[in-house]
Amino acid sequence: MAVGIFDSGLGGLTVYDQVAKDMADLPVCYFADSANTPYGVRTADDIYKLTCDATQAMFDHGCNLVILACNTASAAALRRMQENWVPRDKRVLGVFVPMIEALTERNWGDNSPPREVDVKHVALFATPATVASRAFQRELAFRAIGVDVEAQPCGGLVDALEDGDEMLAEALVRSHVDALKRRMPHPQAAILGCTHYPLMQKTFQDALGKDVKVYSQANLVSASLGDYLKRHPDMLGEGKDSVFLTTGDPRQVTDRATQFLRRKITFTAA
Ligand code: DGL
Repeated sequence: MAVGIFDSGLGGLTVYDQVAKDMADLPVCYFADSANTPYGVRTADDIYKLTCDATQAMFDHGCNLVILACNTASAAALRRMQENWVPRDKRVLGVFVPMIEALTERNWGDNSPPREVDVKHVALFATPATVASRAFQRELAFRAIGVDVEAQPCGGLVDALEDGDEMLAEALVRSHVDALKRRMPHPQAAILGCTHYPLMQKTFQDALGKDVKVYSQANLVSASLGDYLKRHPDMLGEGKDSVFLTTGDPRQVTDRATQFLRRKITFTAA
């Protein structure tokens, strides 16, 4: 199947949904490692191994290009995969860079030296493993100077969203925003650095206040994927139909995914 979209669970569906809106004819192989979610509390070695296994499964389904629509995997595993593991004729891309390019007002793929940008105080909300990796700060430092980043690990939020517990998710967002604001009272921008969090975007915006620009990834990743495929049409891979695979119980994941996206999405066993 054509382009692979990977997440530890349902969060990457926020990226898939936008891709399906922007490129309705693009066949996708979505892989949810539901049996092992959440990744955000795992070690980097564990995340690396699980992400390689899932990516291999998508290569086996005919994908040439896999998007890690999972910040935790992008942060903890992507560089190591690109350096040691990805076969020469395949590509694995993450979700950090498109967002940082938007934040630093760059065009896709602009690798010119770091420069001063308008935004100076940035709040990052992400899983504990993403925060611990400091991958966001590293990628930002390649592109911008003088930006102060305060990162808030949002423990529990992915589990609440995977379980469909919106009340708990809302309470957690408000308490994580409060915790961050005690350390950085006036962020100018906030990054939702986990593909599950766009589901709570309104609550994040409300808790942060209307003056804070909230960046979420789905539209940025989809736009940069469209641009990449124009430049690399050979990366489209085989297949015409979309498929949704899970390592979990397909019936249960189908129900949750349908609730998550508010339209029918049918998963089969990976
Ligand atoms: N949605 C993922 C992310 O973007 C994974 C979260 C998790 O499994 O903890 O980080």
